[in-house]
Amino acid sequence: MEFETLAQTRRSIRGYKPDPVPRAVIEEILEVAKAAPSSMNTQPWHVHVLTGAPLERVRRRNTETMLAGGKANRDIVSHGEYEGVHRGRQVAIAVKLFAAMGIERHDKAMRQDWVMRGFRQFDAPVSLVLTYDRELDPGAVVHFDLGALSYGICLAAWDRGLGTVVNGQGIMRSEIVREEAMIPESEVIMTCIALGYPNEAFAANTVKADREPNAHFVRYVGFED
Ligand SMILES: Cc1cc2nc3c(=O)[nH]c(=O)nc-3n(C[C@H](O)[C@H](O)[C@H](O)COP(=O)(O)O)c2cc1C
Repeated sequence: MEFETLAQTRRSIRGYKPDPVPRAVIEEILEVAKAAPSSMNTQPWHVHVLTGAPLERVRRRNTETMLAGGKANRDIVSHGEYEGVHRGRQVAIAVKLFAAMGIERHDKAMRQDWVMRGFRQFDAPVSLVLTYDRELDPGAVVHFDLGALSYGICLAAWDRGLGTVVNGQGIMRSEIVREEAMIPESEVIMTCIALGYPNEAFAANTVKADREPNAHFVRYVGFED
């Protein structure tokens, strides 16, 4: 796909077909994505690709622990709840997703069901868990590097007819992912990316999240025009 079309049509996918994703296709995606820039070309990332029984165990334990009132236990430090304009945009995408899914504002059961789907990484057949070497903490620069890799993964997947959603929900409990995926303590779990073939009948998959006009976040300095 041409780059502009790729970038502008990609969207997060939250409903998947159960079809497995061939390992060769995942290899291709990572081959493309690793062309991402990284600070001093350190390429500080590791990708743990989960499917089958280990992924099912992560989903089950993550959901059970969170349902039992467990708090998030992320490896990376959280900023806490979003506020102000950030909260506004968070609410706007939630409103769009719930409208597409027919989830009413006061329907607690359906809202809870949606959260549970998130804890299960939307039942995607594959999860890519992105980690980096702990010695690079505190991680602002390495986080940037992994962000670049993540977007490459999302675009390379989309180019092959595969959907993704970067998600924090699937690794709410980092210790569970670490245990089930046998990730060494020397690595920090940054995020995960659900991957699979989009279920075209799943309403939320049609949702396009809004973007601010450039004028809201761009300033030009020293230009004559
Ligand atoms: C770091 C990060 C964490 C995210 N976590 C979640 C998540 O836990 N659940 C979810 O449904 N989407 C999650 N998303 C997806 C965003 O909601 C999505 O990228 C945003 O709304 C823009 O929509 P788009 O990807 O369709 O363009 C996450 C995205 C990023 C970059």
